[in-house]
Amino acid sequence: MQVLQDVSLRSHNTFGLEALARHWITITATEQLQDLLRDPAYRSVPKMILGGGSNVLFTQDFEGLLIKVAIPGISVVEEDDQSIFVRSGAGVGWHELVMHCIERGYGGIENLSLIPGTVGAAPMQNIGAYGVEIKDVFSSLEAVEVATGDLRTFASADCQFGYRSSVFKHELKGQYIITSVTLRLRKQPVLNISYGAISETLAQKGISEPTMRDVSEAVIEIRRSKLPDPRQIGNAGSFFKNPVIPRTQYEALLIDYPTMPGYPAEEAVKVPAGWLIEQCGWKGKRLGNIGVHDKQALVLVHFGGGRGDALMALARDIKASVLQKFGITIEPEVNMV
Ligand code: EPU
Repeated sequence: MQVLQDVSLRSHNTFGLEALARHWITITATEQLQDLLRDPAYRSVPKMILGGGSNVLFTQDFEGLLIKVAIPGISVVEEDDQSIFVRSGAGVGWHELVMHCIERGYGGIENLSLIPGTVGAAPMQNIGAYGVEIKDVFSSLEAVEVATGDLRTFASADCQFGYRSSVFKHELKGQYIITSVTLRLRKQPVLNISYGAISETLAQKGISEPTMRDVSEAVIEIRRSKLPDPRQIGNAGSFFKNPVIPRTQYEALLIDYPTMPGYPAEEAVKVPAGWLIEQCGWKGKRLGNIGVHDKQALVLVHFGGGRGDALMALARDIKASVLQKFGITIEPEVNMV
């Protein structure tokens, strides 16, 4: 096991922000991770797990041991008449797994095309887009307990999935490292084209009987038109979660803001944070090296040479202005270090 010192994190976070990891190790096998966690030399060192770095904002150097999970491998572990169970190492790129499954006709994750990050990070925040979340196709995952190095299997119910959330962001935060994820996919895909933008894109292309690949391509087109490519402009996708507010509050706000969009979420209403932020005048605003994306106000961007704490200050100002104008608190989706 090779532990490196003072490693630059710039190419390991999609914001492209500069920060150092005091110690760094790349993990390519579960047993290697177990050995590391059981090694007394590292027991009391603070640890941080990094997958694709697509949901993290570094505001300072990380003084502990950064564990880069790069466990590879995609395989079919089980199948029946209708389903195929695909297991992927945590270090596989999420989009790579989506493409692998589409090529083989395994259905269920085509709407999640082009989401940045790794497979291991996907269940942590229950990634979702265009009407589908990973929880809809989730079978199980394996994770190593940080305190003991023991391997544990989590079924769907154990993960407590919610909107951009799971047990790994709450009760078990920092306690487990995901090493593999198994998805239950369909041999006869059932396409979900309910999200307006997908059906509109398919209609524009004149596709009336879409295939899984058509849906994936439509999603890729929509994402490319709205979300900046991290290789060109640093960003971490949606910076904030969409707030869920009581129906009564939503109805009261509609009196002053009749065009406010809202989607039913059980007894409450989910409001697009992008809309709220745009109404506060932030969309496309640039402050030196950082700013708010001009096509999707929910995305904060770093143009290069900027600092994470400046981005955090911008996020704070945005949050304060949304609270002041609408009385709604928006919470970050991105993890801040
Ligand atoms: N809107 C605006 N102005 C903006 C952005 C959005 O008015 O600048 C309004 C529009 O009314 C639009 C609505 O918000 O119709 C919804 O926008 P969009 O379809 O872009 O979705 P979103 O709610 O802003 C969420 C996810 C995205 C995901 C899309 C599609 C969250 C926090 N974000 O964004 O996820 O791709 O839906 O399903 O839930 C991510 O998590 O990083 C991410 C990109």
